[in-house]
Amino acid sequence: MSDVKEKEKSENILEVHGLKMHFPRANNELFSREKKFIYAVDDITFELKRGETLGLVGESGCGKSTAVRAVAQLYKPTAGEVLLEGKDITKMNSREMLLARKDMQMVFQDPYSSLDPRMTTAEIIAEPMKIYRKRGILKMTDAEMDARIDHLMELVGLSKFFKHRYPHEFSGGQRQRIGIARALALKPKLILADEPVSALDVSIQAQILNLFKDIQKKMGLSYLFIAHDLAVIKYISDRIAVMYLGKIVEIADKKSLYDNPLHPYTQALLSAAPIPDPEIEAKRQRIILTGDVPAPDRQRPGCYFYDRCPCHMDKCKNCQPPLTQIDKNGGDHRVACFKVIDNQ
Ligand SMILES: Nc1ncnc2c1ncn2[C@@H]1O[C@H](COP(=O)(O)OP(=O)(O)O)[C@@H](O)[C@H]1O
Ligand SMILES: [Mg+2]
Repeated sequence: MSDVKEKEKSENILEVHGLKMHFPRANNELFSREKKFIYAVDDITFELKRGETLGLVGESGCGKSTAVRAVAQLYKPTAGEVLLEGKDITKMNSREMLLARKDMQMVFQDPYSSLDPRMTTAEIIAEPMKIYRKRGILKMTDAEMDARIDHLMELVGLSKFFKHRYPHEFSGGQRQRIGIARALALKPKLILADEPVSALDVSIQAQILNLFKDIQKKMGLSYLFIAHDLAVIKYISDRIAVMYLGKIVEIADKKSLYDNPLHPYTQALLSAAPIPDPEIEAKRQRIILTGDVPAPDRQRPGCYFYDRCPCHMDKCKNCQPPLTQIDKNGGDHRVACFKVIDNQ
């Protein structure tokens, strides 16, 4: 491997290149045999540095969950590469994938449906370890596993005296702690979290977000963290990628994105979020988007935001803006909007 490749490998835990996830859909048109698709994720590229949190934000239906599921190989992507520590996991056989999956675990949105109600907390947390022990990948005695369960429960803020209780005996926040303990059982390097606090009460959300931050520090974890709530994203992320209709329209470090959002969609998202200070709230201008998010049922020749964009130009209708590095802000800030790209 060349020096450049080696360097990239040590910097980025995850690289996603040209990832596409197109779902086939029924063609209801008479006399047409053309294949139809839902273009849920349509050519996204991003990287996640070691130890960092990349927030993925966008309205419901813009493809966030599909993107992480395709990254995790829970779906087989239509196209693209997913490099985990420099190795393309889309091309791995099942044994290689089993090893890679140990390093990359998921936490799901709904702590009610993602935990098996018939298993105790200890059994839920032990399950991944048992699977990997059975396959000969993890060497561990029963006593060691028991000690690890106690340790994991303590790590996520649950008393080990609750280990024989069932999920329904816990609150939503506590259940999400169990889900996090399960995800940590195999000592992963990367956690893919799909709206892990969206189903929780606001008062509980902060506790779980702080838990994510604590364990990141303790274990040196990297996070790909999905949320539709901009306050959550701002709190947890180092860098942020904004998605619209299956594409990333802007990606930047947090400060650059919040201080100087460049894409009209990002500007609209940020302007719609409430600001706690009533004086600033009263003075500021909101950008109201007209129309709804279109269905991702066709590919467009031009910018995907064209129909709803308050400042589109003629060019935007038939020409697709590439995600382009914008230097004037300093740092890493990429945007896919001709209004910005052409003026730099
Ligand atoms: N398994 C699937 N089959 C067909 N369409 C899907 C499937 N999963 C998601 N979609 C569609 O893909 C789009 C993106 O969905 P999703 O990734 O769940 O968005 P988000 O997580 O941002 O709300 C939506 O239009 C959704 O209806
Ligand atoms: Mg989702």
